[in-house]
Amino acid sequence: MRVGILTGGGDCQGLNAAIRAVAKSLLLNCQAEIIGIEDGFAGLIERRVSPLSYADCSGILSLGGTILGTSNKASPFSYKGEDCSAQVMAYYKELQLDAVVMIGGDGTMSIAYELSKLGMNIVGVPKTIDNDLMCTERTFGFDTAVAIVTDALDRLRTTGHSHKRVMILETMGRYAGWIALHAGVAGGADVILLPEFPYDLDEVVKACQLRAGEQHYSIVVVAEGAKPKGGQTTVQQTIANSPDPVRLGGIGEVLKQQLELRLNAEVRATALGHIQRGGTPTANDRIFATNVGRHAADLVARKQFGQVVVLQQNCLTSVPLEQVANQSKGVSLADMTMNSALALGISFGDPSLKNPHYIK
Ligand code: F6P
Repeated sequence: MRVGILTGGGDCQGLNAAIRAVAKSLLLNCQAEIIGIEDGFAGLIERRVSPLSYADCSGILSLGGTILGTSNKASPFSYKGEDCSAQVMAYYKELQLDAVVMIGGDGTMSIAYELSKLGMNIVGVPKTIDNDLMCTERTFGFDTAVAIVTDALDRLRTTGHSHKRVMILETMGRYAGWIALHAGVAGGADVILLPEFPYDLDEVVKACQLRAGEQHYSIVVVAEGAKPKGGQTTVQQTIANSPDPVRLGGIGEVLKQQLELRLNAEVRATALGHIQRGGTPTANDRIFATNVGRHAADLVARKQFGQVVVLQQNCLTSVPLEQVANQSKGVSLADMTMNSALALGISFGDPSLKNPHYIK
């Protein structure tokens, strides 16, 4: 059996733990040959692969990033203006691969689905700090990102408290607010602004004023995809001819300028950026990435292709790629952590948002 492994999309913590789990499980239990595909789909397009031995996969469990390299700009269906999917399928056959394990987020799974329709045997493994993949309760990378943002909030709190300031922290997460919500709750934020629930600036001002009367400082967490009611997301850059054409970012600074005009307090904004994606994975992410990687190897061994490994009701299972492709999962009012945040009086910049259990 010859099995390729690729990592696609943005890097995150736990990718190497997942590569290690897929490769070691298949090497030890199926005597498979493992082929590492370089830089995500770019390696399939540009014919860049190399064998992965057991030794290559040792000592990488706690390493951040990906030993295979990755890209969030290379799609076989549109690469430098060309559809290279036929070339990619020919290369897959030439390599005599029985399957490819694709570790990635929604973008990678959407491409994987299209390639599976062309006949490639694929098993998907979900990763992303954004935690926005459909059908799965969790993706690895998320736990570490939340831990990093929570640590940053603990640090910002001391300055907020000492200087009586409003401290804004902008998180990543694209169009989903999972990182902001979870870190906001873990870090005791007073205001959390999420892409899923457009905010009213007056309400953010009110929440900070209320805090000023009580604790004299406020902690505001804003997801990069958050936007005011009737307004647009803040875009840092647009990139032509890219499968990932919009780079979000900058809402923290915009909010700082707006709040400074309205509040009798100093306001500071911090954007953590790629710090959220880097460095060593938490123990939870290492274990979860190991479990999903091993489960993907099980699916390959059983020749169950066209599937993505997912966590449902805290158990690993799999769903067809089709159910995950071209979609994403946002925060809803039914979410447990959202419910707790609302019950505890955290402002989301919209007074109509209420914990459904307390609505009379
Ligand atoms: O999807 C992961 C992520 O880190 C998002 O949270 C963020 O918007 C985006 O990738 C940043 O992409 P890039 O690394 O290309 O700047």
